[in-house]
Amino acid sequence: MSAAYLLLRNVVKSYDGRVNAVDDIDIEIRRGEFITLLGPSGSGKTTTLMMVAGFENPTSGTIELDGKNLTRQKPYHRNIGVVFQNYALFPHMTVARNVAFPLKMRGTPKQDVARRVAEALDLVGLGKFAERYPRELSGGQQQRVALARGLVFRPDVLLLDEPLGALDKNLREQMQVELKRIHREVGITMVYVTHDQTEAMTMSDRVAVFNSGKLEQVAPPLEVYHRPATRFVGEFIGDSNFLEGRLDAGTGSLVLEGLGEACMPAARGAVGSGGVHVLIRPERLRPIDGQPAEKFAKVVELVVEGSVNYGDSVLLIGKAGNVPLRVRVSGAQYGAVQEGTTLPVGWTADDMHFLPRA
Ligand SMILES: Nc1ncnc2c1ncn2[C@@H]1O[C@H](COP(=O)(O)OP(=O)(O)OP(=O)(O)O)[C@@H](O)[C@H]1O
Ligand SMILES: [Mg+2]
Repeated sequence: MSAAYLLLRNVVKSYDGRVNAVDDIDIEIRRGEFITLLGPSGSGKTTTLMMVAGFENPTSGTIELDGKNLTRQKPYHRNIGVVFQNYALFPHMTVARNVAFPLKMRGTPKQDVARRVAEALDLVGLGKFAERYPRELSGGQQQRVALARGLVFRPDVLLLDEPLGALDKNLREQMQVELKRIHREVGITMVYVTHDQTEAMTMSDRVAVFNSGKLEQVAPPLEVYHRPATRFVGEFIGDSNFLEGRLDAGTGSLVLEGLGEACMPAARGAVGSGGVHVLIRPERLRPIDGQPAEKFAKVVELVVEGSVNYGDSVLLIGKAGNVPLRVRVSGAQYGAVQEGTTLPVGWTADDMHFLPRA
């Protein structure tokens, strides 16, 4: 038996009968999981969420929840909560009545409604705001009301579509922590949509990376970061250097285009005869700082052409020969590196991630 709780199988959605907005995706989501759909604008994240909610019908494929086929069920027959980016609160209703709305729709007995609304508002820290109107609340508070409304009927799954997109950075970070706390307390399965990769990395049990309606990879955040399945994932998430490599059959070493030979990692199988893309994250390239070259798989002379100083770290942008490189170094040590400086930088075999060339 599969461990999947919410299952999308071969799901396709075409709005116009020509292009697939969602193109044959499979995802198995575990009960209680916090999974994030991440991808560029127009890649099919909202469409996927809307099909799970039942607001859009898949063109083909099936959606199952806890072993039951939901694919053609009406939204109000699915026990699924939805929180949108624009809050979608009813302006003429108080906070309490907004939160009570899904309970009334489901015919919850009156005596239970007040108690459940109070519990939901406490959960999001808005117990004292029950009688206010949405216009009397800040953006962050309105989003909490939307969250309380999405949770109050104890849905099996909560879907959140860029819920923090309209908030400023500080409030956004505060709400990220809040959301994770609520996820822990309630233990509910959450499907979260964002195009903010930091948010996806810090909040999720797993990240599903979308590109043009297709799923590129579904994996825990660190795996997506360190071992992207495709070049798209490697470039979309985090900062990256991509080099081109091939195996020299004679010497058994790795030959990097424009940089020459480098030591191979123990797992040689990763480099097929077709050559590879080699991903090295900028923080894995390090100034050698007087250490012997044998400590590294490769040492190159970086000519610094520019830098971005983040305070705690500095991104050095330059070239080794003709190969562009981005190197992230400590702000304390390298904050004052000048343009035109030559800095020997190196990396070890473990710092390289290989992807087959398409
Ligand atoms: N109601 C609709 N009618 C027709 N086409 C649509 C509709 N909704 C979305 N699309 C198209 O489907 C594709 C996927 O859109 P979707 O809204 O799912 O993307 P998204 O990943 O949520 O993007 P964003 O990050 O901008 O919200 C896009 O090409 C979009 O133009
Ligand atoms: Mg969207």
